[in-house]
Amino acid sequence: MPGLTIGDTVPNMELESTQGPIRIHDFVGDGYAIIFSHPADFTPVCTTEMAAMAGYAKEFERRGVKLLGISCDDVQSHKEWIKDIEAYKPGSNLTYPIMADPDREAIKQLNMVDPDEKDSSGVNLPSRALHIIGPDKKVKLSFLYPACTGRNMDEVLRAVDSLLTVAKHKVATPANWKPGECVVVEPSVSDEEAKKMFPQGFETADLPSKKGYLRFTKV
Ligand code: BEZ
Repeated sequence: MPGLTIGDTVPNMELESTQGPIRIHDFVGDGYAIIFSHPADFTPVCTTEMAAMAGYAKEFERRGVKLLGISCDDVQSHKEWIKDIEAYKPGSNLTYPIMADPDREAIKQLNMVDPDEKDSSGVNLPSRALHIIGPDKKVKLSFLYPACTGRNMDEVLRAVDSLLTVAKHKVATPANWKPGECVVVEPSVSDEEAKKMFPQGFETADLPSKKGYLRFTKV
């Protein structure tokens, strides 16, 4: 069976966290949420990632997106580790909760297990997984990184901006897109429909196939 993927409903588990018990669907509420796992507390890459995410918290909040960390260490360990994270990046304040999954049930259900990383007793650790969950509680986008590679929070923010733009207009965002740049008209939209949907106009790239499928517009 494949694990949790795009379009699946995130399991509605209740877990302990650094900010009290959290039921995932209630936490997501009517907005978007990012659930991201890390292999273990008190490890170098994870510490830099958690501090980096704290630095982006206001940007996500501005977009109505909540942050939720998870690992298999317990709440007490998370709380101790937060002191290190905040000391590593002076002035940072870890405002988002970190959930605890000591029996590893949640990371299995969330498809966040790294088969290559084990703790000292041989039990699998979480990967650097990240799911962006929509208001319908479905997975909209996922990242899956190994323990050795820290994530780029600019890219997480860019992915959120793409999802929010796409949810509002019938468009898609091209490679390396950033907010304010041209988007592309979805292939399912005919030229006639596109003229009505985008009164500002759209530009069709002149390609050898002459199929007219690459149409840029601004939203
Ligand atoms: C880290 O966060 O640095 C890390 C965690 C587990 C394995 C390797 C690296």
